[in-house]
Order: sequence, then structure tokens, then C-alpha cells
Amino acid sequence: MQLCITSLWFLAAFIVNADNVQFEDYESNFFFKEHLGTLSPYHEPYFDGLDSAFPETCEIQQVHLLQRHGSRNPTGDVTATDVYSSQYLNNFQEKLLNGSIPVNFSYPENPLCFIKQWTPVIDAENADQLSSRGRLELFDLGRQLYQRYYKLFDSYVYDINTAEQERVVESAKWFTYGLFGDKMYEKTNFILISEGKAAGANSLSMYNACPVFKDNNFHKNATDAAHAVWRNIFIEPIVNRLAKYFDSSYKLTINDVRSLFYICEYEIAIKDHSDFCSIFTPSEFLNFEYDSDLDQAYGGGPVSEWASTLGGAYINNLADSLRNVTNPDFDRKVFLAFTHDSNIIPVEAALGFFPDITPENPLPTDKNVYTYSQKTSSFVPFAGNLITELFFCSDSKYYVRHLVNQQVYPLIDCGYGPSGTSDGLCELQAYLNSPIRANSTSNGISIFNTECQARPTNVTIYF
Ligand SMILES: *[C@@H]1O[C@H](CO)[C@@H](O)[C@H](O)[C@H]1NC(C)=O
Ligand SMILES: *[C@@H]1O[C@H](CO)[C@@H](O)[C@H](O)[C@H]1NC(C)=O
Ligand SMILES: *[C@@H]1O[C@H](CO)[C@@H](O)[C@H](O)[C@H]1NC(C)=O
Ligand SMILES: *[C@@H]1O[C@H](CO)[C@@H](O)[C@H](O)[C@H]1NC(C)=O
Ligand SMILES: *[C@@H]1O[C@H](CO)[C@@H](O)[C@H](O)[C@H]1NC(C)=O
Ligand SMILES: *[C@@H]1O[C@H](CO)[C@@H](O)[C@H](O)[C@H]1NC(C)=O
Repeated sequence: MQLCITSLWFLAAFIVNADNVQFEDYESNFFFKEHLGTLSPYHEPYFDGLDSAFPETCEIQQVHLLQRHGSRNPTGDVTATDVYSSQYLNNFQEKLLNGSIPVNFSYPENPLCFIKQWTPVIDAENADQLSSRGRLELFDLGRQLYQRYYKLFDSYVYDINTAEQERVVESAKWFTYGLFGDKMYEKTNFILISEGKAAGANSLSMYNACPVFKDNNFHKNATDAAHAVWRNIFIEPIVNRLAKYFDSSYKLTINDVRSLFYICEYEIAIKDHSDFCSIFTPSEFLNFEYDSDLDQAYGGGPVSEWASTLGGAYINNLADSLRNVTNPDFDRKVFLAFTHDSNIIPVEAALGFFPDITPENPLPTDKNVYTYSQKTSSFVPFAGNLITELFFCSDSKYYVRHLVNQQVYPLIDCGYGPSGTSDGLCELQAYLNSPIRANSTSNGISIFNTECQARPTNVTIYF
């Protein structure tokens, strides 16, 4: 019998199926790397395809960046029982190699045959750290930001606001290298912002700076409940499909399948390729993507009652800087901030980016609805970012535009831009006063302080 090498069985099966004509090939158009949820490598989303060039009759006045760290290794954990943790995956890899999770290498055409020659790359020693791909993502984005907005870089020193976790700070450094090269040492002032309660409304880690949210476990309760339903639905069929590739004595589990999927995702994040990804089908990728989307949506995103409170402080601060464009004493033009995915989604929810998802109309946990706005793969992949641009145009008005991962997010709640058509821009006052975000733009900081019972702070950081 032929084991773990291409046998004629495959060819025979192919010939038998030859007159079973398929519809146009969906799989060849399916880019699974763009459906790995928050663990997707950086890529641009597919919105309405609006041109991201500066509007012809306008001059850029300000740019605001809210930037996620780059691709990373699995996180170190609190308990080592979290399937996504570095320790858990490290153990799982050892079990695949030492046979305590026994792959059936005698099964013909076993797609896991590669494990015989496989060298794992997830190493608990690298827990929490950026991967080399992550460093490259940030360097490249820094370089691109400078090229696009070079006219705004007329100061000497720039504040680099960053949540103080190591991988976020390192991401900010690579980005800054891309911006300024070796001059980064003289041209930057790094402001490391506490990830605990201390930062209050200055925070870039709003989950932790909001004691009422944090101390009541609102995030964990909501996401645990959502995952408990969805994972029991979508993973079971994958368990049943993959079980035959293991010895019949072994009972494959839901956590095993999740581990196989995480290894696929992290091998992509670390070395750009993974044979583990080839064991999953496009539909299975979409269902894992949904699992990641439920996490952010319920955790503090648009399903949560807390989204606009959590995101509002940043938006209030941003709005203050936008308004001050006419203030001759306010000469800042470039605003840079670095953080995590779960702090960007609440800001985007509070800006009104996910109108189809609300606490009253949540994403269902018992089925994948496929067409919904908050795809984490599109909004917060590794190195994901939200850019706010402020323009002054030939009609003597100011206009705002958002880019998500360098694509125009089409604002539709506050009129049109200077083209007079739906070009994704809004006049500044219309943007600030739209009912969707007016509470945040004018009172986001005080709402955050009150609802969160946040540590009182004077806001000293410009976003
Ligand atoms: C295989 O590796 C796992 C994880 O390190 C370990 O717990 C187990 O004892 C090992 N089994 C054998 C047979 O070596
Ligand atoms: C969160 O879940 C824990 C454990 O089930 C429970 O004790 C707590 O009351 C829940 N908190 C909220 C705010 O629902
Ligand atoms: C491995 O798969 C082959 C082919 O299906 C089967 O005959 C054999 O019993 C399996 N081995 C084990 C240990 O389950
Ligand atoms: C912007 O100007 C207002 C007054 O219009 C002032 O209260 C506020 O502190 C300024 N904001 C910033 C970020 O400087
Ligand atoms: C704005 O805040 C007011 C007062 O807290 C509240 O009644 C209203 O529902 C909020 N509007 C939105 C759109 O969140
Ligand atoms: C805020 O600033 C004022 C005026 O400088 C100062 O008196 C106050 O102590 C500051 N509050 C905090 C919480 O830092």
C-alpha cells in the first residue's frame, strides 16, 4: 500500500469525477489569508472602491492614525488552558510530533502527511512578540504614511502615543523607522500610555481604563456565551470530517480542531505559509472568521451596550483636534497612536461603521449570516489601522474622511464631500454633529468618565 505519497487512487477518483462539472471555481478565488479574522495578515478591505487619492480641489490639513500592532506570535497566557495561548499550542505541536495525538499515516492521501517532515515554528519562548512579518508590516506602513502625507511633516519632533505593551511599542518603533529612518531618534517623543486603569480618558486600552466594564467582566461574559453556542455548532462537522485522518482509537476534539486552525493562522503570521491551512475548506474558514467577528462584536464592539462609551473618549479627543484646525495656536498636523484590535473596533462602532449590528439587533450566535459589516479581517487584521483625514477645499470648507486599512470608508450619514456626490467625505460640522456620533464628538470624555467611573485625569494627549 502507498502511504503518504501521491497514489493512483487520487487520479482514479479524479477521472471518475471528470464529468461532474462544477460551477465556476470558487476556491481559486478564495484568499483564505483575508478571512483569518483578527489574525489575518495585513491587507486592504473591499469596500465600495472609492478612490483613496486626495480630492482634487482639496489640501490635506491633518492626519490621525489609530494603528494596531503587527503580526505576532501567540500570546503568553494566564492559565495555559486557553487554546490560543502559546503554551497550549506548543504542547499541541509536541503531541502531534510524539504521537500522543496520533495521525494515521496509513490513511491514503492523508492531508496531514506533511507532519512527518514538519518543523514547528510556534515557540513558547517567543510568546507575545512580533513576528518578522509584523515588523515589516509596520515599517512599510510608516514609509507609506510619510510618502502620502509628507506635506504635513513640518515640525521637528512628533509625539508617538503608544499603549505600553511591548509588542505595541515595538510596532510603533518599526513604524517610526519607516517614517524617519535613523532620524527617528531625534524626531520622536515616545509617550507610553498605561494599559491599566491609570490612564483614564487618555487611554489607548479603553477596556482596562474603564473600571465598571473591566471589573464586571462584561467582555468575558458576553464573548464566552457567544462562543459557547457558535463553536458547538460549526466545529462538530469539522471534527467529523477530520477524524478519519487520526488513529481510530483517538477521539478528536473541538479544541484539537481549533488548535489545528490556530497553528495554520500563526504559521502564516510567523513564516507566511502553513500546510495546516490546506486541511480546511473555504466554508470552514468563513465560519472561523465568524467566530473571530463574534468575539469583537460582543466583547466591546457593536453588539455591546458599551461600544460608544469605550470608543467615545478617543473620538472626543480626535474631534477637539479637528475643531482646532482654525485655532492659530494649534499647530499639530500629524497624530499617531498605537494599540490593539479590541480598542479600535469600539471606536469604529462609535463612529457608526457597523449600523447593521446593535445591542437590539446582534449578530446571531447560532448561524453565520455572512453579509454583515463588522468583518474583523477587513477592519482589524494584524497592522490594521483607522486613518482620519481633514481637508480644506476650494469651496473654503473643511471636510473629513476615514480610511480603513488605506481604503476609503464611505461615510453616508453626513452629506457629501466637495464633489457634491457620495464620495465618502463629509463637511466637518456635519460630520461632528451627525446624530450617530455627536455624543462622542462633544461629550465622549465626560461620558467615559461617568459611565466607567474612570480615574479622573486631565486629557494631555492629542489623538
Ligand atoms: C508528548 O508530548 C506531550 C506534550 O509535551 C507530553 O505531555 C506527552 O507526555 C508526550 N508523550 C510521549 C509519548 O512522549
Ligand atoms: C459574569 O459571569 C460570572 C460567572 O458566570 C457571574 O458571576 C457574573 O455575575 C457575570 N457578570 C455579569 C455582569 O453578568
Ligand atoms: C488508518 O487508516 C486505515 C485506512 O482507512 C485503516 O485501515 C486503519 O485501521 C487506520 N489505522 C488506525 C490505527 O486507526
Ligand atoms: C481646542 O479648542 C478648544 C476651544 O475651542 C479648547 O477648549 C480645546 O482644549 C482645544 N483642544 C485641543 C486638543 O487643543
Ligand atoms: C446621546 O446621549 C443622550 C444623553 O445621554 C442619550 O439620551 C442619547 O440616546 C445619546 N444618543 C446616542 C445616539 O447615543
Ligand atoms: C488637572 O489640572 C488641574 C489644573 O492644572 C490640576 O489642578 C488638577 O490637579 C489636575 N487633575 C488631575 C486629575 O490630574
